[in-house]
Amino acid sequence: MPGSTPIYTALQRYAGKDFLRLHMPGHVGKGIKQHELCRLAALDLTEIPGLDDLHLPTGIIKESQELLARAFGAAKSYFLVNGATSGVHALFLALNKEGEKVLLPRNAHRSFYGGLVLSGAVPVYLPVQVETDLGVALSVTAEDVNSLLISNPDVNNVFISSPSYYGTGCDIAAIAAITSGYNKLLLVDEAHGAHFAFSPLYPKTALESGADAVVNGLHKTLPVFNQGACLHLSARLAGDLRIAKTLSLLTTTSPSYPILASIELARRLMEESGESLLEESYQLSTEYRRKINAIAGLSCCEQELQAVNGVMGLDPLKILVSTRGSALNGYQFGALLRERYGVQVELEDHNFILAMFSIFHNRNDWEKFYHALQAIAATYPGRERTKPRVELPPLPPMLLTPRQAFMASSLKVPVKEALNRVTAEMIAIYPPGVPCLLPGELINQEMLDYITYLGKNGTRIQGPQDPSLQYINVIS
Ligand SMILES: Cc1ncc(COP(=O)(O)O)c(C=O)c1O
Repeated sequence: MPGSTPIYTALQRYAGKDFLRLHMPGHVGKGIKQHELCRLAALDLTEIPGLDDLHLPTGIIKESQELLARAFGAAKSYFLVNGATSGVHALFLALNKEGEKVLLPRNAHRSFYGGLVLSGAVPVYLPVQVETDLGVALSVTAEDVNSLLISNPDVNNVFISSPSYYGTGCDIAAIAAITSGYNKLLLVDEAHGAHFAFSPLYPKTALESGADAVVNGLHKTLPVFNQGACLHLSARLAGDLRIAKTLSLLTTTSPSYPILASIELARRLMEESGESLLEESYQLSTEYRRKINAIAGLSCCEQELQAVNGVMGLDPLKILVSTRGSALNGYQFGALLRERYGVQVELEDHNFILAMFSIFHNRNDWEKFYHALQAIAATYPGRERTKPRVELPPLPPMLLTPRQAFMASSLKVPVKEALNRVTAEMIAIYPPGVPCLLPGELINQEMLDYITYLGKNGTRIQGPQDPSLQYINVIS
């Protein structure tokens, strides 16, 4: 029944009965004394009679998963207790055999790399569209999906991310039309878009737009404990036993009931009040983005983001504020927000800050953020700050798959001796965070020149053990 919370209700019932707990977990409901945690410990139970089993649900977990599927418009949904990461891993491992090709964006979250290692699938990379002034990697295009499917007819499935970390969506409907035309599965990492399902004012969900499987990081945007996530399947995949089997393989045998209950309570809240809460947040976002755009030197860049090829829709709760017109860079802005105004944003970058608002932020919170931005901008009136852009070199040849590279032994060599070696680690310049080298790829002369240049320029690098790029780990 919609509105019901079978897991939470069963936990509460058990906790209220004052059982002598002769079962796991070891805190037995009373060994954790800190008062904030001890109430939670009372509900931190295990698979005793009445509490079902996440690995083979037949009772309250089955019912709750069905309610989740209904709320999100899925044919089938699974709870995930190890984050969106485990959903991405499971889709890779369930749907690809070793050596099969998957089309994916070059800048995908690291969980995609984990999925490639687990499955042994061979990546074919989609070019990533970047907003070059801000330096943010945003989207993939339907045209690129189409042309890569033509040149790689043996691709097994297409796995993309939408929305991006910055809140921009891809044109999933157009991409789904292409993938279904070629009879390929479309899988979407919608980790940051779980709230979209509950309001027409927000971008359409990937499921609504025709995706076959979608991963939501529920804890990112809904009132769900960290690690709480879910995997939704369309009718085409709902009965796929490989997915059920793989999820079970990758999931702990001691799933957290508090996480499951928090997912369930969030689902009920969103079903009952999500639309009005999201509408209020949408109105606040519209009002305050307008106000922020009026602050000299700052801009929320809606037009710039939406002008990027392939971008479709923008999450109104991700507020990316460009500081390029200010005397301060984004790191300095973020530090002042934190230290002087008690505001901590999600991300600071050279060119911008990224604030994540939720349905639980009220007008006072938006006003506090706006007021702080206004005060800082007025104190440091500015000039345009630019940062030299670093162009990416062409994709290097892949000599080993991510799985082969992960399994191989490696050694550390000076970068200047790395010519024609195969890298054992990722190198991505930030921004825009698109890797120039991934494990298994060849360090040819062009790449060696490029990473030598990066090392000399002190560019911000993600991935390698030695971010100064004096040394690099290569396959031995
Ligand atoms: C786009 C994207 N996908 C997947 C994940 C993995 O999510 P989780 O931390 O829930 O495992 C993240 C985490 O930041 C992400 O940003």
